Amino acid sequence: PEDERAMKARITTLLKEQNGVLVAHYYTDARLQDLAEETGGCVADSLEMARFGSEHPADTLVVAGVRFMGETAKILSNEKRVLMPDLNATCSLDENCPIEDFARFCDSYPEHTVVVYANTSAEVKARSDWVVTSGIALPIVKHLAAQGNKIIWAPDRYLGSYVQRETGADMVLWPGSCIVHEEFRSIALQRLRRLHPEAAILVHPESPEAVIAQADVVGSTTALIKAAATLPNDTLIVATDKRIFNKMRQLAPGKRLLEAPTEGEGATCLSCARCPWMGMNSLQSLLAVLETGANEIQVSAELAARARIPIQRMLDFAR
Ligand code: 13P
Ligand code: SF4
Repeated sequence: PEDERAMKARITTLLKEQNGVLVAHYYTDARLQDLAEETGGCVADSLEMARFGSEHPADTLVVAGVRFMGETAKILSNEKRVLMPDLNATCSLDENCPIEDFARFCDSYPEHTVVVYANTSAEVKARSDWVVTSGIALPIVKHLAAQGNKIIWAPDRYLGSYVQRETGADMVLWPGSCIVHEEFRSIALQRLRRLHPEAAILVHPESPEAVIAQADVVGSTTALIKAAATLPNDTLIVATDKRIFNKMRQLAPGKRLLEAPTEGEGATCLSCARCPWMGMNSLQSLLAVLETGANEIQVSAELAARARIPIQRMLDFAR
């Protein structure tokens, strides 16, 4: 804790000296989330991270999250310096949607409107008509479907099929998945609910259909945190990265938070409800980038200009 206090103090000083602000996701280490708030930055879902970074007057944005979040910040504020604690912090959705294959996929549906999840590379975003996050996907697709658009959706097939079920939109889905959420198990979840019939179930829509089907609330990380704070239930079963409990505990003190069961239950699960890439962000790696200026996100002005159009469309729609 002594070391930790010293690291936090040094990070705070460096942020001030460099006119920097720390923007963190709810899945990062609790110490980073709290430090972001203590130093005038924010902890948020991916939609709010994008908005906060683009509206904040800082010269340097330090993005604690995964790579697409840093890239989105750089695309929206190309003139700002964007640093990330670890440039290897990627996302299974982004990794499994390479631009060459994705462009071919789009070319085979020339009549379709291309909607991509924010969890993608700058190149994939630049090939899209709309970027969405889980917090805004439903109203945007509803809007597009009402205008008679057929939709290409990439890369998360679980979120895509959830959006399809909810909106009735005509959609073709890219076969991607999140390695964290696809491990939630529906039969074990049914069992857990039987043990806690008073509980509400909160589910992120990157989870499999049979898990979503049991949810009382389905939504983005921000939506799930709000639900935890406002629902009358004293017990909540939560199917998303468990580091979200940090903010839930702050906003819903006294409530009992239970982890939804995952594949293998502890011994053999791959992610065990913790995104390995989000976990690469630490006080040490954050301090190192502020000390050295390493790990700057680069997106060329030309690519940023193309990728900004569909992201800006989302932000304007969300207003
Ligand atoms: P949110 O937009 O809900 O924060 O989700 C981002 C993400 O990566 C979920 O796995
Ligand atoms: Fe990607 Fe899943 Fe990690 Fe979110 S939790 S960053 S979707 S791998």
